[in-house]
Amino acid sequence: MAKTIIAFLAILHLAVVGRTHDFEAWSQGLRLTGIKSEQVTDLHFYFQDTVSGTDPTAVRVAQATGTDRSPTLFGMVMMADDPLTEGPDPTSNVVGRAQGIYGSAGQNEVGLIMSMSFAFTNREYNGSSISVLGRNLALHPVREIPVVGGTGAFRLAHGVALAQTYSLNPVTGDAVVEYNVTVVH
Ligand SMILES: *[C@@H]1O[C@H](CO)[C@@H](O)[C@H](O)[C@H]1NC(C)=O
Ligand SMILES: *[C@@H]1O[C@H](CO)[C@@H](O)[C@H](O)[C@H]1NC(C)=O
Repeated sequence: MAKTIIAFLAILHLAVVGRTHDFEAWSQGLRLTGIKSEQVTDLHFYFQDTVSGTDPTAVRVAQATGTDRSPTLFGMVMMADDPLTEGPDPTSNVVGRAQGIYGSAGQNEVGLIMSMSFAFTNREYNGSSISVLGRNLALHPVREIPVVGGTGAFRLAHGVALAQTYSLNPVTGDAVVEYNVTVVH
């Protein structure tokens, strides 16, 4: 019995020591890659979603048989490469691009699922990106969408994006959406 307990404690000890070493290697790795401590960055930009015309930046790539009969376009899948701009005007400075997929995942309410990278090109964020993944109740005044990761300046990012429709053309479906993103990285 005592032997069993000692063997068990030895294994437990090994497991704990093993984990500590892993953590040290991990935190040392972070130091080596230049990551110091967490910081919070607030980003503000406008998402230009153009679905109409001869040069749309978001295109429908799939749908279900019932999508066109659904009031929420349930089953629609869009692929987007939308410019992110400094101001609401589509001709204002481009600060990045929103690349990825959004689709209609709600049957009773317009509820988009967004799975996108916001890849930035301006100033110190050039080449850095954040990953946005979550539900977007597009007709609500302000939506909250999780930020689940990032690259470059935004390595190990987590945070939240607040989205608010700035304008929506009911005929074409083109929309401009204001974003305030808070990123911890
Ligand atoms: C961003 O980086 C790319 C590639 O390194 C470079 O070609 C481009 O000029 C940079 N853009 C800005 C605005 O600095
Ligand atoms: C973003 O922040 C600005 C300034 O605080 C505010 O005026 C605006 O309403 C906010 N928009 C969203 C979508 O949170």
